[in-house]
Amino acid sequence: MKKLNVRDIRKAKKGNLQVLTCYDYQTASLMNESMLDMILVGDSVGNVILGYETTVEVTLEEMIIFGKAVRRGAPEKFLILDLPFGSYSTIVQGIHSATKLFKETKAEALKLEGAFPYQLKLIERLTQTGIPVMGHIGLTPQSVHQQGGYYVHGKTDASQDRLMKEAKALEAAGAFSIVLECVEENLATKISDELSIPTIGIGSGKKTDGQVLVVNDLLKMGPKTPPKFCPPIADFYQMKKELLDQYLRDQGK
Ligand code: KIV
Repeated sequence: MKKLNVRDIRKAKKGNLQVLTCYDYQTASLMNESMLDMILVGDSVGNVILGYETTVEVTLEEMIIFGKAVRRGAPEKFLILDLPFGSYSTIVQGIHSATKLFKETKAEALKLEGAFPYQLKLIERLTQTGIPVMGHIGLTPQSVHQQGGYYVHGKTDASQDRLMKEAKALEAAGAFSIVLECVEENLATKISDELSIPTIGIGSGKKTDGQVLVVNDLLKMGPKTPPKFCPPIADFYQMKKELLDQYLRDQGK
């Protein structure tokens, strides 16, 4: 499969863009040989791999380590990396962090959460310097404390109005695509219809231009129950547990 670029992704509006997160070389190698369109090294690496309570704890240095591992395994996939919390609190800091992350990991794009005016300005500047940016609105886990937990967004008129404005502002700022996380389904459809760049949904219904899931949820790699919108297609945690127990029994334990 041909490696996509931002022009292909923009053209995939009304398409079926499939994105999964990835955090390690082995899984990346597997994905490299698959029909997956894009790989996201999300800051969900904090919860999923590092056992942090929230993504707020993830550092730029950690994103670089995981990003490089995934890049080595998947040289033929369009790779997106998250800018972590605290690495883009100002425009100047954001340009510095983004340049370092982009350069060191050889990603094709970066993603950042939110659409406040300084973030829009940052997206404008980054795209001008040659760094493609994916936006992310709705449930933005880096703001979990500010948002007051994890829940579906866009249920009230005010919230619907705000999210639609944010999506349009991100497109105007130059984002090549936008993640809609836990955005009420009808609103996610409406936003997708009104934008000319592809929307990538997670927990936002089936009518976005693509879907992103956390691969460790999809395959149930860990002990925690995956979110309702991601019914696992396997239970690797249980399988690994049984195999390990069997191995230890065979060793006389
Ligand atoms: O960090 C992440 O994995 C993400 C996806 C859930 C979109 O941002």
